[in-house]
Amino acid sequence: MRHRFGIRLALANSALIVIACALLSWTLVRSDLREIGRGLADRGFALGEHLAREAELPILSGDAETLRQLGLMARAERDVLYTHFVDVEGRVEATLGERPARRAPVPLHGDLPPTDVDAWEFEVPIYTTDARPQREELLAADPADRSPPSGRRQQIGRVLVGLALEPLRAHGDRVAMTAATFTIIVALMAVASAVLLASAITRPLQVLARAADRIAGGELETQVTLKSEDEVAAVAESFNAMARSLALSRAALEEHRRTLEEKVRARTERLETVNRELDEANRLKSEFLATVSHELRTPLNVIMGYTRMLAEGAGGDVTTEQQEMLESIHRHSKLQLDLISDVLDFSRLASGRVSVHVERFSLVSVLDEIRALHVGRQPQGEVAFVVDAVPDLPEMETDRVKLQEVVRNLVDNAAKFTQRGSVRMEARPGERAGWVTIAVRDTGRGIGAEDLPRIFEEFRQVGENNTRTTNGVGRGLAIVKRLMDVLGGRITVESTLGEGSTFFVQLPSRLPREAPVKPKAVAAAGTAQR
Ligand SMILES: Nc1ncnc2c1ncn2[C@@H]1O[C@H](COP(=O)(O)OP(=O)(O)OP(=O)(O)O)[C@@H](O)[C@H]1O
Ligand SMILES: [Mg+2]
Repeated sequence: MRHRFGIRLALANSALIVIACALLSWTLVRSDLREIGRGLADRGFALGEHLAREAELPILSGDAETLRQLGLMARAERDVLYTHFVDVEGRVEATLGERPARRAPVPLHGDLPPTDVDAWEFEVPIYTTDARPQREELLAADPADRSPPSGRRQQIGRVLVGLALEPLRAHGDRVAMTAATFTIIVALMAVASAVLLASAITRPLQVLARAADRIAGGELETQVTLKSEDEVAAVAESFNAMARSLALSRAALEEHRRTLEEKVRARTERLETVNRELDEANRLKSEFLATVSHELRTPLNVIMGYTRMLAEGAGGDVTTEQQEMLESIHRHSKLQLDLISDVLDFSRLASGRVSVHVERFSLVSVLDEIRALHVGRQPQGEVAFVVDAVPDLPEMETDRVKLQEVVRNLVDNAAKFTQRGSVRMEARPGERAGWVTIAVRDTGRGIGAEDLPRIFEEFRQVGENNTRTTNGVGRGLAIVKRLMDVLGGRITVESTLGEGSTFFVQLPSRLPREAPVKPKAVAAAGTAQR
């Protein structure tokens, strides 16, 4: 493959030189033959004219013997095959030599004779003059035109002279042989020189190609050494410079890669350490929260128990004023207890240590329970709590407590932010088969469009005066979102400021028993909708 260029170059050069030699030889041979042919023709015509002049009187007198003598004389000339004297009536007066069957008249314009004839025939007319020109006529005539005055000249016969073509052919063959020999010698020399030239051109190219191969194979220190000092050597020098710079770049790149790898390794190790520390810190935080909240709940329960007993008169009669104070202590303790429960739940959810207890239950019963809880809390009845469930809802098979926690949180919020009107809990089959949708709809203050995406964030409270007029720390919806992740559903919201809000809970009615429980970061705003 690699030698093809050299072979092509040598072949092309040789072919060109051979063709040029052959053409040159052929042209030379032809022009030489033409020249000789012309000489032969001139000789033939000259001889014919000479014989025609000499034959005038013997033809007139019918002297065949003199004609034969003339013929004999002519035949003594080189290449003359025959002479043939004929009078005007076609009577042959004298023939010397044999007229070959294959003969041709002399061609015009010095063309070469055809190859299949043996003789060239020159025909020259024999004239006589019926009256010889007078001396005065000859003197008066134009020296350029010494022919007799027209009208007096008369053809009395013709002479045919045949010249042999054999010598011409033999000469042609010799010349052609010489030319062919010359062509072959020159062609051989041309092929040899073309091969040498091609190899002189391709050898350095092959050296360069081999070096390029080695460089491509990774041997960047490869250098090319050429003995010449010509342009090819200049190319080799550039090639070497390029290879050197490539080697330098490669080394720099290698160094860079090595340091980069080291940096990445160091950073990865650092990240892993930080991750481990974070995990540990998170675990400790969750444990701490769980322990602390547990420890706080016990005394709080005791406080609440005793407060209730005092309020019921277990410690003696209490005045209305004392009753109100005890109620207040109880309310705030309850609030504190709820808060601690929330913190405990959230820390459990955040650490991913949450278990799921799937059970069969009726969704309507859960909604009714929550409703009863709120109706009891709001005896004056300024807000109507309504459960509106589609009949024949399939039974739920999921974690009842967690679902109840979700809906309770939503209804708590609705009740908290609704002064008058209604809080409706609607239940209907979901858009996807096997799913249900629970909507908690209120006629409260609503949520601004700009706040909607943020309400699921932990500790996020929005709207005017937020915590000042209502209780809570802004964890309810964050817990709801995490619980929905555990239940395999999702929560969305639609709201108009001043008109009310609707939270939609969509979840599969049947939770797989081994549902994956993924701890997730605190809820982002992604699920909120308008
Ligand atoms: N139904 C609603 N109507 C108007 N605003 C609401 C409603 N539900 C939630 N919000 C807004 O979203 C915020 C976040 O609610 P979230 O339940 O997370 O916290 P919270 O109710 O303030 O406190 P917590 O639930 O911890 O007691 C609320 O503070 C309130 O501004
Ligand atoms: Mg809340």
